[in-house]
Amino acid sequence: MPENDIVAVILAAGKGTRMPSPGPKVLRTLLGEPMLGYVLDAVSPLCSSILIVAGHMPEKIAAAFSGENIILQSRQLGTGHALLTALPQVEKLHAGRILVVNGDAPLLSEDILAAFIEKSRRAELSFATLNLADPAAYGRVVRHNGQATAIVEAKDYDIAIHGPVSGEVNAGLYLVKTDLAARLLPLLQNNNKSGEYYLTDLIALAASQDVQALAVECGGETGLMGVNTPRELALAEEILRKGIVDKFLNNGVIIHGPDGLRAGPYVKIEPGVEIFTPCEIYGHSRIAFGAVIESHCVIRNSEIGEGARLKSFCWLEQATLAKSAQAGPFARLRPGARLEEGAGVGNFVEIKNAIIGPGTKAGHLSYLGDARIGAKVNIGAGTITCNYDGVKKHETVIGDGAFIGSNTALVAPVAVGANALVGAGSTITKEVPPDDLAVARARQVNLPRRKSGK
Ligand code: UD1
Ligand code: CA
Repeated sequence: MPENDIVAVILAAGKGTRMPSPGPKVLRTLLGEPMLGYVLDAVSPLCSSILIVAGHMPEKIAAAFSGENIILQSRQLGTGHALLTALPQVEKLHAGRILVVNGDAPLLSEDILAAFIEKSRRAELSFATLNLADPAAYGRVVRHNGQATAIVEAKDYDIAIHGPVSGEVNAGLYLVKTDLAARLLPLLQNNNKSGEYYLTDLIALAASQDVQALAVECGGETGLMGVNTPRELALAEEILRKGIVDKFLNNGVIIHGPDGLRAGPYVKIEPGVEIFTPCEIYGHSRIAFGAVIESHCVIRNSEIGEGARLKSFCWLEQATLAKSAQAGPFARLRPGARLEEGAGVGNFVEIKNAIIGPGTKAGHLSYLGDARIGAKVNIGAGTITCNYDGVKKHETVIGDGAFIGSNTALVAPVAVGANALVGAGSTITKEVPPDDLAVARARQVNLPRRKSGK
């Protein structure tokens, strides 16, 4: 349930210097979905509004998350400065508390957040901590007589000043009363090794004003892990992958070689589906009961109907296989490809924005684009719909029961009537009426062969 009182601020302006990217780090994907999407999914059920602080290539973040409120931090002067930049917008929303989340924590879950918020209920300022064997690059929690008094960044930590390292680190998740944030954030200094305004300094600043921060242990080892390096990205992705595959296995999906299945968080696979790996299934793909996915298939935002079969090495994007349809091996189904019930396309067949009617077969080596093909049609090997005239795309329509001979070029816009027959090697440029035979190729001439050397 959203807490009307809490606005979330997701810090996502950083450049990600430890993970060079052509775009913002938080748009790097895990199982096909951007890192920031995972954070948003965890946060949105619990907060009344969400603000995303973007700075490095903000237009890319705005394009990827078009419905979201983006705050521009034009210079990345640190996490404290990032929250300060969002503050005027937070105040306009009249929320009593701010939940601050690092945008590079894709393993965050609604459960972890809910537990943290619950434990923070009575605190003016709280933050989540983890206990790690190796505190690595995380900010370290300093306590005096049990009370957390500061977070010291790894590079600023000095054992002589701060005492021995305990392994208790800052997870990058904070809950702070809006009025306290408004009072303290402008006081942050940047006199540290990075020359940045650290959000973490809020803890010591609060302590200096007799406001005690609450350090809340939560999240286990991995739930709050930050992703700063390619290795951490791979680790986080593997943790997510295992969790998703585990759910499928528990739910009755048969997976031969589960370690080779990469499936995104929104993929739906019904019990009784059988998958041979390696395979990648991403986006909002859905696979229905009894379907079989053979190895080496890549499926994005596609629907595979009941009892359908994808043979090895197929590539699908926004494609649909209705009940009992088959594709592959080596079929490429591009956006708008739709195989109706019992249709089948074989090796090296590419389909784009085309309906392949019930029971229709295109067995080999074809391109079918911008086409409406009826039921029980036979598409011979090497059939091409010539859908593009250099300026516009045009449609090809083929009626039920038609037979298209091998190596036919159908120059669109063009229609072939029901039960018509097109001779092999034809270039069809005008309509073929139903039941007719069309042959559009040069007639064969046989001449006596000139003998060589005579
Ligand atoms: C931060 C914490 C550290 C904590 C760790 C947990 C600070 C100073 N340190 O370190 O104590 O243990 O997270 O993962 O906060 N960002 C902005 N604007 C900026 C700088 C950063 O929006 O000017 C964003 C980044 O995009 C990132 C998040 O803030 O999503 C955290 O920044 P990052 O540089 O990754 O901080 P860490 O060094 O990981
Ligand atoms: Ca980080």
